[in-house]
Amino acid sequence: MSIYVPPEFPNFRQVSHPLLLHKLTQLRKVSTPKKEFNELVQEITQLLVYEATKDLPLMTIRIKTPLESMDAPSLEGKKPVILPILRAGLGMVDGFLTHIPSARVGHVGVFRNEKTLQPEQYYFKIPKHSENRQFYICDPMLATGGSAAHTIQCLKDKGVTKITFVCLVAAPEGVKKLLHAHPDVPIFAVNLDRQLNASGYILPGLGDAGDRLFGTR
Ligand code: PRP
Ligand code: URA
Repeated sequence: MSIYVPPEFPNFRQVSHPLLLHKLTQLRKVSTPKKEFNELVQEITQLLVYEATKDLPLMTIRIKTPLESMDAPSLEGKKPVILPILRAGLGMVDGFLTHIPSARVGHVGVFRNEKTLQPEQYYFKIPKHSENRQFYICDPMLATGGSAAHTIQCLKDKGVTKITFVCLVAAPEGVKKLLHAHPDVPIFAVNLDRQLNASGYILPGLGDAGDRLFGTR
């Protein structure tokens, strides 16, 4: 996989691989049905997780193989936390758990007010004593950045410092907002799309991710 960091957005990591790009194209198509849409979100997330977790710290532990003892690498520290932004972030959770099955899963409920596009929170639950854990916030779409910025601030208010944001598609407007509000939080995505439309939807985008995942359009 290759990573591209646009000069104007040092907080953004565009993850590229032929499989990722092909799957994103399938995901964008208006003709892709709900079941396939869900599978694609999960498969793309699995591929993104490799890159998003590549800086997880390791320690050395002593183990016994069937033949001898050895010092071997093992993940260090407390279990990471996956934090999906409801609803659409839920579609990415299994993609994370495939590779980090022991990760904890928090939930934050945020929706965009359709008129103001401002985030409105209705739920928040993370493990107790999370200050030293690595958090992976997931949401397929980073549009205005309001939902992401709000969620990151909630975590920081709880003392969390290690935060990574993982999405599928981002708009420049949202990346810019996070660069100003939370420059310490890296964003991993498959693509930086062109712009938002007047209703705050990403162009070309893939539509309303929550509605397509759950069939609620
Ligand atoms: C979508 C999406 C993000 C948010 C992105 O959720 O899943 O959470 O919009 O927009 P923003 O960057 O402008 O905040 P939505 O508010 O539609 O809620 P839903 O997942 O419950 O449908
Ligand atoms: N939320 C979505 O689900 N899609 C967009 O394009 C923007 C926000």
